[in-house]
Amino acid sequence: MDKEFKRTLVTCALPYANGPVHIGHLAGAYIPGDIYVRYLRLRGEDVVFVCGSDEHGVPITIKAREQGVTPQDIVDRYHKVMKDAFAGLGINFDIYSRTTSKVHEANASEFFRKLYDEGKFITKSSMQYYDTEAKTFLADRYIEGTCPKCGNPHAYGDQCEKCGSTLSPEELIDPHSRLGGGAIEKRETTHWYLPLDRYEPWLRDWILEQHKEWKGNVYGQCKSWLDNGLQPRAVSRDLDWGVPVPVEGAEGKVLYVWFDAPIGYISNTKELLPESWEKWWKSEDTRLVHFIGKDNIVFHCIVFPSMMKAYGDYVLPDNVPSNEFLNLEGDKISTSRNWAVWVDEYEKQFPGEEDVLRYVLCANAPETKDNDFTWKDFQQRNNSELVAIFGNFVNRAVVLTQKYFGGVVPENLKPEAIDAETLASIVPCREALEKDIETYHFREALKEAMNIARIGNKYISDAEPWKVAKTDMDRAASILYTCLQICADLAVAFEPFTPFAAARLREMLRVGIDAGEDYRSGEGAPTENFFTSLEGKAVHTRRSGSPLEENGLPVLRWSDLGSTEILAPGHVLGEATLLFRKIEDAEIDAQIARLAAIKAQNEAAAKEREAAEAAKKIEPQKSEVTFEDFGRMDIRTATVLAAERVPKTDKLLKLTIDTGIDERTIVSGIAEFYSPEEMVGKQIVILSNLSPRTIRGIESRGMILMAKQGDGKMRFVTPQEPLVPGAVVG
Ligand code: MF3
Ligand code: ZN
Repeated sequence: MDKEFKRTLVTCALPYANGPVHIGHLAGAYIPGDIYVRYLRLRGEDVVFVCGSDEHGVPITIKAREQGVTPQDIVDRYHKVMKDAFAGLGINFDIYSRTTSKVHEANASEFFRKLYDEGKFITKSSMQYYDTEAKTFLADRYIEGTCPKCGNPHAYGDQCEKCGSTLSPEELIDPHSRLGGGAIEKRETTHWYLPLDRYEPWLRDWILEQHKEWKGNVYGQCKSWLDNGLQPRAVSRDLDWGVPVPVEGAEGKVLYVWFDAPIGYISNTKELLPESWEKWWKSEDTRLVHFIGKDNIVFHCIVFPSMMKAYGDYVLPDNVPSNEFLNLEGDKISTSRNWAVWVDEYEKQFPGEEDVLRYVLCANAPETKDNDFTWKDFQQRNNSELVAIFGNFVNRAVVLTQKYFGGVVPENLKPEAIDAETLASIVPCREALEKDIETYHFREALKEAMNIARIGNKYISDAEPWKVAKTDMDRAASILYTCLQICADLAVAFEPFTPFAAARLREMLRVGIDAGEDYRSGEGAPTENFFTSLEGKAVHTRRSGSPLEENGLPVLRWSDLGSTEILAPGHVLGEATLLFRKIEDAEIDAQIARLAAIKAQNEAAAKEREAAEAAKKIEPQKSEVTFEDFGRMDIRTATVLAAERVPKTDKLLKLTIDTGIDERTIVSGIAEFYSPEEMVGKQIVILSNLSPRTIRGIESRGMILMAKQGDGKMRFVTPQEPLVPGAVVG
């Protein structure tokens, strides 16, 4: 489907405000989204980039309860953490708002109300679990019980986190409330449902026929949902945190989080552009693109489009680029296990290295399959790609120009064929870059950008201007003239991927860049002479659109990429600074050590939990015995007189005991639990008429009575107060 659009509306999934952002989020949706938007802006396209926090949903209420604070406290905290983390990485949303905003509440209510009034919902009554103490219906997450698949006693009503099975509360064995463990019962409740089945024929045509170009993982998931047949989906919940259902008699009910959150894209656009938001959402000329992670596919491709279709006049997504998952050092990223690289922590530990993370997460993006982030790879890509190729080339070009030509772009005095050929070889890189970004292949696109740096690096290494300058300054001038054109190419090509380095490079080259229109402060914001600053330096980013000269400086645009002369002779450069810095082993080792410590902690905690569970496991009762059977056992107290290990064994102690009848030897497998020293003087209980057995050459007469719990831990049985040795138990 190749269609002409007038503008592009880009959204990134609204992350839940119940934890900080980690590299998995970044790689899945936010970095690809930002690259795409920066690219479109460079091409002069009209773009709005919308995101925000998803602040409703049960996990947020659970977290609040665990921490003894309100859900509002939780979302206030994480909204700020996430917003700052994105901004710190240069992910420049035009708006990053939140689903607890007034605009959103009104907008989501209006959306629901229109569908309600037009009879687009059906209602259904069902039996749901109700906590009789807390007097509230329980979301599936609030119910705990034993997993029918793996026996985990702490499975939730929607999922078992131990074996990963999806569950329904009905499947749990011994279900109880997580709100204090109280009694639960089933009660009837009524909810509104969007009958997705009615949209199925339309969805089949729209996705399976008209959007065959969607990425394989996205198309495949949609097809399997559609082939399995769609069911009506509840759009409300019994909960006190969310957008209230705007219908009389719906007290205690809120919109289901997956109903309200995607409407948040619209609400946030409305907040940003109160006058013109409809142009973005209700016009056929808008290309809508949702960047998401793979766990969001069904909601963005099937549920939300059905909601929009039901509403009527909204645009539908043209594409829903979705990445697979990123793992960390071979393990699934997990917030609860703290197995993640947190973006806010990264920004503190690697200040000024935002681009390295952006670069590595794009170069290694899980575009077609799950992928792994490792710190070694991070270091390697920084040191041998960003530093050794990109940074090194730029540094040599600028430093040599300072040295031989006083920092002024030299005249092209003595051109040779290789110069023009080299510059011409950048044109196909630009074309490939365009094609890759426009088809959402960001890894490939980044490779093309890096290729330009490789071309430059090879050219300068082969041409050796530092040698040529000794004998032929005119030729050296042409070489550096050519190199500087390539530097300018790089300042354009890398702007979407590593915007901070691109800005530093522009600072060195003293050029601006035309980065399109600015929507960040809403309508009426100044759009001319828009120079921002990063780390106190002007970066010459103009997001307005017109004349080429800004403060007398050249302004780069995408179309310059690959052209023969971007920087004219005579243009004065700025100071040479380093684009990237080498990352030392010690920095990486510290990160690896941090993860190893977390892993060890997790393993110890898991062992402890397992042991605690096993300890509680009770053996079933043995078959019945008669009183006479029991009466034949001679069980009595005894006192330990001496104890020693049985040589060459781990488990056995040889005990000399006073049974009241005699002094005798018993060999017992308790060395794991008691040292010989501890046993001396202890009063124990024995089965004294057990037929003697020879163990390791020692005759053992009788058996010590031990109690053993499910995890194998054993303790000897002893009278509650000392008795004489030989007292009969019965
Ligand atoms: N909060 C969801 C998640 O983190 C994503 C919501 S996307 C939206 O998985 F479309 F609903 F906003
Ligand atoms: Zn399980």
